[in-house]
Amino acid sequence: MNRLLMLTLVIAAGCDWMPGRPTVPEVTRGNPATVHGFAPLWATNCQGCHGEEGLWGPARPLNDPLYQSLVTDEWLRTTISDGIDGTLMPPHSVDNGGWMTPEQIDSVVSGMRTHWTDNPPAYAAQSPAIINWKKSPGNTDRGLAVFNTYCSPCHGENGVGAMAGSPIDTSFLALASDQMIRATIVCGRPDVGMPDWQGNFNGKPAPERDGLAPLTERQVADVLAWITSHRVEFPGQPYPASGNNGPGYRGGN
Ligand code: HEC
Ligand code: HEC
Repeated sequence: MNRLLMLTLVIAAGCDWMPGRPTVPEVTRGNPATVHGFAPLWATNCQGCHGEEGLWGPARPLNDPLYQSLVTDEWLRTTISDGIDGTLMPPHSVDNGGWMTPEQIDSVVSGMRTHWTDNPPAYAAQSPAIINWKKSPGNTDRGLAVFNTYCSPCHGENGVGAMAGSPIDTSFLALASDQMIRATIVCGRPDVGMPDWQGNFNGKPAPERDGLAPLTERQVADVLAWITSHRVEFPGQPYPASGNNGPGYRGGN
């Protein structure tokens, strides 16, 4: 259609018809209740955050044999159904305002188990727990020492200023639960290059952990305590206490 004719048509149709103007809702959310295939359910409900093949998403890779070996079906079902309070992991079950029936949730759980079948490493059996773990008090001084030995090669001395993001960034801490941080310390992030508690990354020892023993349960608790001690009530900008107030700041001083 030539441009002039198009323009004339747009004008003639007035404001009721404009290119790109939404008419009836174009997308129905969720899958119909009859869909039980893992691929469509994953693509519609999980892939945007956990990645197409269960990795390389912004949220934890679920296509991780160590992670999958440490969680039960029941844990996965409950997490998917209820979401994780205070985080971006949404509740998916119809009962909780989501779009998935119990059968569809079961299909996703068994789909993850049967599609991603790499064997977990033998040491999975000795891993610190990532579900039903005890919230032990953890010692922040010892945690800092663990951090500056095990984590600083990638995350920087005291958690800032290196190639990997800062796990003590207050905005990160506002979005992530202790659960998520613990699972990250134990399982690493095999998609983006963070080693697990043993110091392995995709089955091979990470050079940054050379000569270091596997993390113990105590060390996991201590480093978690140190990281989470940086949570603040009001994360992000403005930072009134630091004086970095910005032009719009109307507080005192
Ligand atoms: C809008 C983004 C988003 C969507 C969609 C999403 N997740 Fe998540 N998911 C997250 C985030 C963020 C976390 C970590 C939350 C936290 O801090 O504990 C998470 C955590 C999880 C965990 C728990 C990890 C742990 O610590 O043990 C599981 C299991 C999980 N998601 C499965 C799924 C499945 C399966 C789907 C699809 C049915 C899905 N998620 C859809 C964002 C999402
Ligand atoms: C070999 C490098 C390396 C080491 C060692 C390492 N990490 Fe990471 N870590 C990464 C990378 C890469 C990421 C993901 C990208 C980013 O956040 O910049 C990451 C992400 C994280 C995250 C955020 C997870 C997420 O999904 O956004 C936390 C929390 C974390 N690391 C904690 C630790 C702790 C605690 C240690 C020490 C016990 C540690 N890391 C050791 C490389 C490493």
